[in-house]
Amino acid sequence: MDKNKLNIVKPLFPEVGEFINEFEQSLKSGQVTNNSPWVQEFEKALAKYAGTKYCSAIVNGEMALLLLLRALNIKGSVLVPSYTFSGTVHALIWNNLKPVFVDINPDTLTIDLNDLKSKIKPDTSAILAVPIYGNPCDIEGLEKIANEKGIKLLFDSAPAFGSQYKGKKLGGFGLAEIFSFHATKVYSTMEGGAVFTNDEELHKRICELRNFGQHAEADCIDYGLNGKMTEICALIGLKNLPKLDKWVERRNELVHYFEEKIKDIPGIKPQKVQEGSISNHLYLYISVDKEKYGLHRDELIPLFEKNGIIARRFFCNPVHKMKCYGEYSHINLPNTEYASANGLSLPLYSDMSFKEMDRIIKVIREKTDYNTIVS
Ligand SMILES: Cc1ncc(COP(=O)(O)O)c(C=O)c1O
Repeated sequence: MDKNKLNIVKPLFPEVGEFINEFEQSLKSGQVTNNSPWVQEFEKALAKYAGTKYCSAIVNGEMALLLLLRALNIKGSVLVPSYTFSGTVHALIWNNLKPVFVDINPDTLTIDLNDLKSKIKPDTSAILAVPIYGNPCDIEGLEKIANEKGIKLLFDSAPAFGSQYKGKKLGGFGLAEIFSFHATKVYSTMEGGAVFTNDEELHKRICELRNFGQHAEADCIDYGLNGKMTEICALIGLKNLPKLDKWVERRNELVHYFEEKIKDIPGIKPQKVQEGSISNHLYLYISVDKEKYGLHRDELIPLFEKNGIIARRFFCNPVHKMKCYGEYSHINLPNTEYASANGLSLPLYSDMSFKEMDRIIKVIREKTDYNTIVS
């Protein structure tokens, strides 16, 4: 492995010594899954961290979203951004819900409230908003619309564990929020996820659904799945949780440093975080305006590569343009399409040094002749 290479993500995990004794005990006990002791501890710690009444740990974020939607038993259509990871929308389809794609705000890249309002129809049952790259949505605005229209507000907060809105950690907003703890996320349990809610009935139903829908000893209330987390993931999560706030702080320090250093460069625009919000900044996101900067983001990628920096074009294919969503490809979502064509995600780590950040800044600032570099 090239030590100088800056990969797109760098998950931080505890040292094996931090959890080996507990894991050994758990292996010896034989109770390594099925609502096992460390998973229960983990759920308590997560709920405390996010300030919610309930949390159910799930095997991954996608399963958390599938089970949440199933538990709600909603019908009809759901308002959702197309500028998101495909899994957000796939979970609707798996639950027989119709996605209605909504555009994004061009600065924050989160769901646009005006477009959202214009798309509410009698069959709309919910809004599924996404704090993209960890950036909280305009939650008060969404709550107002959801309350006025009597529709459910849900969050696929998969990328945003550790982010905050008006002094409160994400997790307790809307009727429920799901998170992913995948290895690509700021806070990871290798694979993992969770559903947070303050609704007791909903929580109970999710707990049953993640265990095949088992209700009583030999009876099922619904066609549940196996969404249970294992002890090893819960232990890793428990050891990492006390470190998360410091990680988010460091990421914000680095983003602030970056923004100060590049603010005089025309055509480079970072993702805007709404006042009062704190993003966990899953990536160092920039939008590249070719007219002003001189290069398109696709021309910048090989320059980063030459300097050992991996840049990714998230989400260069918005969901409504994906093959399996062909029937939606005609929909006009100008801000989504702009971000998809011009956005670039750059590495950002919770333990990144300013020296490493300077390497990223140097490429953007110096953009040595594109033709000589790629030849
Ligand atoms: C917005 C969004 N939803 C859902 C998921 C799925 O989460 P997981 O990979 O934990 O299944 C992801 C993961 O990248 C995501 O970013």
